[in-house]
Amino acid sequence: MKNSNLITLLNPPTLVFGENSLNQFIHDFKTLGLKRLFIMSIDTLEDQLSSGIQELTAFGVKVKICNTLKAEPTFAEFEVILEEARSYRADSVAGIGGGSVMDTAKLVAAQLLNTQSTEEITGIRKLAERKTYLACIPTTAGTGSEVSPNALFVNAEGNKVGVISPYLVPDAAYIDPVLTLSVPTHITAATGIDALSHCLEAYTNKFAHPIVDVFALEGVRLVAQNLKRACDNGDDLEAKTSIALGSMYGGMCLGPVNTAAAHALAYPLGTDFHIAHGLSVSLMLPAVMEYCVSAAPERYAEVALALGAEPQASAMETARKGILLLKELIRDCGLPHSLSDLGIPEDAIESMATDAMKVQRLLKNSVREITRDDAVDIYHSAFNS
Ligand SMILES: [Fe+2]
Repeated sequence: MKNSNLITLLNPPTLVFGENSLNQFIHDFKTLGLKRLFIMSIDTLEDQLSSGIQELTAFGVKVKICNTLKAEPTFAEFEVILEEARSYRADSVAGIGGGSVMDTAKLVAAQLLNTQSTEEITGIRKLAERKTYLACIPTTAGTGSEVSPNALFVNAEGNKVGVISPYLVPDAAYIDPVLTLSVPTHITAATGIDALSHCLEAYTNKFAHPIVDVFALEGVRLVAQNLKRACDNGDDLEAKTSIALGSMYGGMCLGPVNTAAAHALAYPLGTDFHIAHGLSVSLMLPAVMEYCVSAAPERYAEVALALGAEPQASAMETARKGILLLKELIRDCGLPHSLSDLGIPEDAIESMATDAMKVQRLLKNSVREITRDDAVDIYHSAFNS
């Protein structure tokens, strides 16, 4: 947490935020001279995308839409989609959807003309290049993938792994809160807590940095103030716009600082029990905060204030108030709040802890060291909360 730590910020060169910015993407794309656009998306967006695609087609751009991705992608699923994009001879890629869609689009654009295998590019800065234009347009407010260098996949061993590379920062991101209006409430809730967690885990991170702190605290504040409202009324554009902004700030935290233990411990819930990423994080975040708070009470107290807490007699008391407020927010948004609620067997905790220990790229960011035994305790705490 030193101001002098070296930090590199890599955001998309074009970043458009605001109502109907999807239209701006269509307009901007026409100026690029590209002719074969491969769009990763989901079928429920067909209506919202149709007029833009008609406009591109009328302009002479060929568009192929791939809607086949159903959940968090495996590398095997990715390879099938990549082959589809290659045989289509795409010259540009857009990801219009949630985190899984955008992560897949990012890697398709990178691998289209690259000869490295997925094993070779897994990890940090292993990817050699990306020669294909890439735009990302989020339709959920949570992942932040549209501005981050990260793409996450399930590998052949069933573990969630990251391809982290500056080449995965899109050429352009268009964040259009209107696209998030049709998102079901439980997805708004879970992805919103995910966005909040990106900010919170960056602010309380061992490698926190003053530049990223600004995004992180404001992101916590925006999501905390608006998520219940956005869940109560899915058509509340003002609340959804604030969440979309918080999500973008969360994405800006991911590259330079990244998340920490709550994400590391959430991954086995996704790979072993197919629990969606945002919900997995929401289930683990309070228990991880309770474990970590003693290592950085002042930082957690700042987070608590951003979550809406009144200052208490000590930083630790303020910090603990923040954890209570976060738990309240999770309940108020209608999300399940314990592993037992989801029917996860308690005897799975040992193997989940073993798997979580493999996510050292995030565990190293934790302000308090986490051993396998500590992870077991944290899972038990999340099981009974
Ligand atoms: Fe996340």
